Amino acid sequence: MEKGEDSSTFKMGNSAQERSLPYVPDCYVVPPSCEPCDSNSDVVPTIDVSRLKGVDDDRREVIRELSLACQRLGFFQIVNHGINQNILDDALEVAKGFFELPAKEKKKFMSNDVYAPIRYSTSLKDGLDKIQYWRIFLKHYAHPLHRWIHLWPENPPEYREKMGKFCEEVRKLSIEIMGAITESLGLGRNYMSSRMDENGMQVMAVNCYPPCPDPETALGLPPHSDYSCITILLQNLAGLKIFNPMAHGGSGGWVVVPQVTGALKVHIGDHVEVLSNGLYKSVVHKVTLNEENMRISLASLHSLGMDDKMSVPCELVNHENPVRYRESSFNDFLDFLVKNDISQGDRFIDTLRIKD
Ligand code: OGA
Ligand code: NI
Repeated sequence: MEKGEDSSTFKMGNSAQERSLPYVPDCYVVPPSCEPCDSNSDVVPTIDVSRLKGVDDDRREVIRELSLACQRLGFFQIVNHGINQNILDDALEVAKGFFELPAKEKKKFMSNDVYAPIRYSTSLKDGLDKIQYWRIFLKHYAHPLHRWIHLWPENPPEYREKMGKFCEEVRKLSIEIMGAITESLGLGRNYMSSRMDENGMQVMAVNCYPPCPDPETALGLPPHSDYSCITILLQNLAGLKIFNPMAHGGSGGWVVVPQVTGALKVHIGDHVEVLSNGLYKSVVHKVTLNEENMRISLASLHSLGMDDKMSVPCELVNHENPVRYRESSFNDFLDFLVKNDISQGDRFIDTLRIKD
């Protein structure tokens, strides 16, 4: 490490990944993972969700597949989701266009305030992180669109239109998937729909992972789970790894999520773990890097309204199944984020668990 090079040298706007440094500074080097890489990507299910609209038997079958995936991994890919490939390609294109803008343009959105409805940043906690991650991101609220879109970038000129279209389509899909999830829990398909539809939050994390000169030593994002009910993710390249708790005879291992053109990835977030009283597990995931290509991902996080608390439904509670989680809101998660260190493995869901 060069003299004086630590996290404070790479503050947002001046990070190694924004400057395309030809080496990985020490403060980006992560300790090797304790868990092995489980090479068997076949465990990641791909679900054809067009059958949700089909006859009863088809819908029942999809819901059974989805329920198994939620119990085993907290993760699945979906195909035939009804979003046109052009809409996906356009959203990835304007995201890339944004990150390719001159630094001055992007810095207009720079902020450390996790409560801000739009912010550009590079790290989890600027200047405070022990380890830094090779990621640049723009996060913005997306629902209801008319309330937030005027805050979004005006450059590239088509950003608002194309990202807006993608957000709207993904949001409709999120309601459909949540309907299938609540149905699979025996709560009926409309259990969450009005709370998610009218006041629900949609946060779009537009992520950019520039090529990394030494991709084995650093990470794009550390292992974490999302606070959301579900996250729907689109990527241009493979790089996402999920933790499979059942790999290696139950000791767990990392799985590369295979890239399937046109597929979207669905992560179960902490709030569906709560909703299911622990039957479904939020998926722990991380982002690995590559040396050649810029990786772009669009993660759309869907949750209840800012102050609307997710709690365990009374329908799922009985003598054998006591309430296992405390209630919490998106705002509670943001408060947690300010006080805790995600990069050190702190997880929101752990603060919600009620000990036996
Ligand atoms: C996230 C996330 C994964 C990715 O933004 O929470 O996990 O592939 N992103 O970028
Ligand atoms: Ni995530």
